[in-house]
Amino acid sequence: MMKPRIAVIGKGNVGGALQRGIERAGYPVQSAGNNAQRVREVAEWAEYIFLAVPYTALDEVIREIGDGLNGKTVVDATNALTPAFELAIGFTTSGAEEIQKKAAAAKVVKAFNTVFASHMETGQVKGTALTLFVASDDSAAKQQVMALGREIGFDAVDAGPLNNARLLEPLGYLNIQLGYMLKMGTEIGVKLVH
Ligand SMILES: NC(=O)c1ccc[n+]([C@@H]2O[C@H](COP(=O)([O-])OP(=O)(O)OC[C@H]3O[C@@H](n4cnc5c(N)ncnc54)[C@H](OP(=O)(O)O)[C@@H]3O)[C@@H](O)[C@H]2O)c1
Repeated sequence: MMKPRIAVIGKGNVGGALQRGIERAGYPVQSAGNNAQRVREVAEWAEYIFLAVPYTALDEVIREIGDGLNGKTVVDATNALTPAFELAIGFTTSGAEEIQKKAAAAKVVKAFNTVFASHMETGQVKGTALTLFVASDDSAAKQQVMALGREIGFDAVDAGPLNNARLLEPLGYLNIQLGYMLKMGTEIGVKLVH
C-alpha cells in the first residue's frame, strides 16, 4: 500500500533532515522553501504537512496555504522562540495551539521540536532511540505521526492532547539550553525510560 504523501515546508536544518528521514522510511515527500507558490503546490499535493520554518514565519505560511490545510495532518516541529532566542509564549497557550486556532480544520500535531535537527533523520543518538513526544487532539493523526516516527527510528510516545505542547515547547528549549548555552553540544537528546 502506498504510504501517505508528505510535504515539508522549510528547507533548513530541520526541513532537510526530516525530508531524508521520511524518505528513508519510504514515504513520498516533497519540500518547499521560502517560495509562496511552491509552498501552496506541495501543501495541496500532500496528506501530511510538516512545518519546519522559523516560528516568526508561521503566520505567513499558514496564510499562504490557507484552505489547503483543511483536513490535513499538520505537524508542528517548530520551537516558539523570539528572534532573541527566548521562549515566545508559555503557560496559557503554545505555538501549536495558536496554529490550530488559525487553521481550525487542520489536525495539528506537535512533534519533533524536542530533537536536534541532526538526529531527525535517524531518531538516534549514540545508538539509543530518542523519545518522540507526540501531542494532538486528533487521535488518528497522532497515531499516524507516531507510526512515522517509529519508522524513522524514534521511540514514539503519546504525549496527550495538543495543549501539552505547552510542556513540549519548553522541553525543546531546555534541549537548546543544554546543547548551546550550557555547551553540551548537539550529540544529546531526550529519552523517556518506560
Ligand atoms: N535546528 C534544530 O536543531 C531544531 C530542532 C527542533 C526544532 N527546530 C525548529 O524548527 C524550525 C526550523 O529550524 P531550522 O533550524 O531548520 O531553521 P533554518 O535552518 O533557519 O531553516 C528555516 C527554513 O525555513 C524557510 N522559511 C523561512 N520563511 C519561510 C516561509 N515564509 N515559507 C517557507 N519557508 C520559509 C527558510 O528559507 P530561507 O532560508 O530561504 O529563508 C529555511 O529553509 C524552527 O522553528 C526551529 O525552532 C529546530
